[in-house]
Amino acid sequence: MTLKSPPTPAAQPGRGRARAAIAAKTLRTDRWWFAPLITVVGLTAWVIYATVRVFMHKWYWVDQYHYLTPFYSPCVTDRCVEGSSHFGSFLPGWWIIPDAALTLPFLLLFRLTCYYYRKAYYRSFWLSPPACAVPDGHKAYSGETRFPLLGQNLHRYFFYAAFIISLINTWDAIYAFHSPKGFGFGLGNLILLGNVVMLWAYTISCHSCRHIIGGRLKHFSKHPLRYRAWTFISMLNVRHMQLAWITLGTLALTDFYVMAVAAGWFNDLRFIN
Ligand code: FES
Repeated sequence: MTLKSPPTPAAQPGRGRARAAIAAKTLRTDRWWFAPLITVVGLTAWVIYATVRVFMHKWYWVDQYHYLTPFYSPCVTDRCVEGSSHFGSFLPGWWIIPDAALTLPFLLLFRLTCYYYRKAYYRSFWLSPPACAVPDGHKAYSGETRFPLLGQNLHRYFFYAAFIISLINTWDAIYAFHSPKGFGFGLGNLILLGNVVMLWAYTISCHSCRHIIGGRLKHFSKHPLRYRAWTFISMLNVRHMQLAWITLGTLALTDFYVMAVAAGWFNDLRFIN
């Protein structure tokens, strides 16, 4: 016969004391603050760089090799330099309007509502809570039950927009296999291609994508193709956090490389033509 120990006061539902009465704010002695700190530094640096670049309105297109930075894709204002508008230029070129005004808001919302980024900025910027076993930085907690956080539920719809934008970025990467003599490629092509591969990996590793592919099924055995796709996406999904950071890096690197070649800071390293 086994004896069950009585539940502790904190574990008893309905009791007033939900937490043990410990005076210290946290008993953690490790560097729990390091992850939130590095997240604040990384995300802030990236947002500053991207904002400056988006409103710079220059050095985003290399006409010679057809390189277009993802921050200006597709370029749709009447200010876009010749050759950079692959889908028409139908918006006015006011400085406040990004040249990629059609896609940037959706990309921003896709990342803002991403399950991983939510965890990252809830912990690091809102301290809600900053780490496991560390108290919340706020007195009240309502989760995502109220406006505007209720809007996080729209993530599944932003996924479709991000999917289309990844197709556009893929087209940009293919279109860039160009040289003044015809076909050609250089280091810029490798960077554009690498960025697109990583963007696809991040996009399809999305939790919403995983649910679209493998959710609402009663029997995987009756849907072998969806099961295989779901298995593959699940493998990527495990790396979603890493892919979120890697794509911030590849986006900034791609943009910087295109800017540097467009500005004439250095020449593209050409392998063929
Ligand atoms: S959960 Fe991160 S992109 Fe969908």
